[in-house]
Amino acid sequence: MNNNGNIVGQRLEVCLKSILGTQYNQDGLYGIISAIALGATKLHYKIRFSALEDTLGATGGINLHGEQVQKLDVEGTNIFLDVLQNSGYVSVVGCEELENLKVVGSGSNRSYTVLMDPIDGSSNIDVAVSIGSIFGIWFTDNNSQGTDNSILTPGNQQVAAVYTIYGSSTVLVFAISGRVVGFTLDPTDNTFRLTHPEILIPDKCKYYSTNEGNFPRLDPPMQRAIIDLRNNYSLRYVGSLVADFHRNLISGGIFVYPTDPEYPTGKLRLMYEANPLSFIACNAGGDSSSGEMSILDIKPKSLHQRTPLIIGNKDIVARTVEIMTS
Ligand code: AHG
Ligand code: MN
Ligand code: MN
Repeated sequence: MNNNGNIVGQRLEVCLKSILGTQYNQDGLYGIISAIALGATKLHYKIRFSALEDTLGATGGINLHGEQVQKLDVEGTNIFLDVLQNSGYVSVVGCEELENLKVVGSGSNRSYTVLMDPIDGSSNIDVAVSIGSIFGIWFTDNNSQGTDNSILTPGNQQVAAVYTIYGSSTVLVFAISGRVVGFTLDPTDNTFRLTHPEILIPDKCKYYSTNEGNFPRLDPPMQRAIIDLRNNYSLRYVGSLVADFHRNLISGGIFVYPTDPEYPTGKLRLMYEANPLSFIACNAGGDSSSGEMSILDIKPKSLHQRTPLIIGNKDIVARTVEIMTS
């Protein structure tokens, strides 16, 4: 038995209800997180077999961000749209790969919106490096379903957040207010089993994650902040946000993607990268900032807006923000 009465090794379907407790609309969140677990299992195999099934590489298309669309970006989008629609609890999905919100159903049961990055770390797909999927879960404003302004509320309004990482093992981490837990896919029966009953970021920061190749383009205060991190921590940078974030969450660390001339408003997307991971970080004792304010307090202007992101150990986020703004 582990803390909170959950047993390591227990299947997600079994322990999810006790983790959600009674304060949540159990069926809704239970249904959505179970659907994401099902989708992640399907995508796990798609990824593992991609080189053998000719689903590596690019489609030849360009997405709304001007980025090369990878075949697995499309596979991931379709898998998660399908399982979220079939969950019966989701009315609207926002997706990194889709310009507009997608209404996947209506009805009183469908009272949630999910904003997702179906494959995070696309540049790592063809080189067998860890990639992931990220989800923010929101109550749907039923009065304006499927219109942008129905979702343009700060990240602190999220009900839950999930990410999955397809690495040396396939892990699903989800957070509700005050609780962050992790499950690992058991490929012998394709179930997710509880492996991290209570995730809290360690007190001690070990790693810093940033693209050091951008250093020459950063403004002097930001350079001073990166030099401070260099002088105190080991560099670990995978190039997949989810992989860098997960390692820092489990081992202690900070991830920094500031503005630079190529990305004057930041590279990462607020609604389906920064917000869900910030919700998880803050519920695990960490913190996140844009450099100007808490990520979760940003009032969004558009579904695909970008933001600078500093996320990880609370004290190091504060120190980094202090240096980069002085
Ligand atoms: P995505 O694959 O969803 O577009 O996200 C890629 C992001 C993020 O995963 C990662 O931290 C960052 O891009 C890496 O950017 P650089 O290659 O510029 O360092
Ligand atoms: Mn991404
Ligand atoms: Mn992506």
